[in-house]
Amino acid sequence: MATLSISDLTVEYVSAGYKVRPIDELSFAADTGQLVVLLGPSGCGKTTLLSCIAGLLTPAGGQIEFDGIDVIGLRGPQRADYRRDTVGVIFQAFNLIPSLSAQSNVMVPLRLAGVSRAKARARADELLELVDLTDRRKNRPGQLSGGQQQRVAIARALAHDPPLVVADEPTAHLDGVQVEGVLRIIRDLARAGRLVVVATHDDRITQLADEVIELVPRRADVTSGPQTITVRAGELLFRQGEVSDLVYVVRTGSVEVFRERADGTEDSIVRRGPGEYFGELGPLLNLPRSASARAITDTTLTGYPAMDFRRRDHS
Ligand SMILES: Nc1ncnc2c1ncn2[C@@H]1O[C@H](COP(=O)(O)OP(=O)(O)O)[C@@H](O)[C@H]1O
Ligand SMILES: [Mg+2]
Repeated sequence: MATLSISDLTVEYVSAGYKVRPIDELSFAADTGQLVVLLGPSGCGKTTLLSCIAGLLTPAGGQIEFDGIDVIGLRGPQRADYRRDTVGVIFQAFNLIPSLSAQSNVMVPLRLAGVSRAKARARADELLELVDLTDRRKNRPGQLSGGQQQRVAIARALAHDPPLVVADEPTAHLDGVQVEGVLRIIRDLARAGRLVVVATHDDRITQLADEVIELVPRRADVTSGPQTITVRAGELLFRQGEVSDLVYVVRTGSVEVFRERADGTEDSIVRRGPGEYFGELGPLLNLPRSASARAITDTTLTGYPAMDFRRRDHS
């Protein structure tokens, strides 16, 4: 058995000169044999997290370990070995080569690894049988349905029999009948002793999962009602990239909302004084904070859980 262990993982991007932090100190662990689902709305960081696990993206901080391998620390040839032998990637858009047959598409990673043509063909046929496509192996992607193409992509990801498989929204482009076949295959991959990590917002996958990891945590404090908060001059109230349920109204004092630029400087967005509100976008849209807020003077605020803020009388 091998374990994937992720601790305090943080990813930052620079977007239009600003830092965004879709993954902020995320930790979880899972073992081979499990089907883990990463659940969350678009933009919450699912593809980002899968890319880190697959060794395609280097995070700003934290650790990723699989079967004793320090994934983030891998360099050059070791990283290439990890990507070829240890992790299989199933992309959302299939990424098949249109001019090649299903069989040849599955053979590509094997041929690139120096496997002989005959052996690669035999292995491809074995994998295409596993995904129930033996009779379509001579067809090109354009002659296959979406579900069939996705199954070819799954077969290709399994070429080197990786113990870890990541799949990015594997049912996103499929209709109902096709989804069923793909889900059954994905469930069986884990049953056969692999660790399968699937990013999705599809409930049908969640029902098959051994573990569901929600990338934007559900808010526990929705019914807790408004709360009074005091912050001293210069103190941060919230930080860019954080997930929070609270919308704020200033009672006394004043607050500055600002963005951190990638170079460490700040860009002031707005100042808020008594009776004015701020911080509503993240909680109402279920997105991480797009900016930070700090008290300019000693300040007292009321924090409203987003649901209460929606119901609140603004007059
Ligand atoms: N290469 C990039 N550069 C800048 N921002 C990015 C980049 N890739 C993703 N992002 C941003 O990071 C956040 C998470 O993106 P992503 O991981 O694609 O989410 P998901 O797969 O859950 O839809 C989004 O706000 C997205 O705009
Ligand atoms: Mg995505």
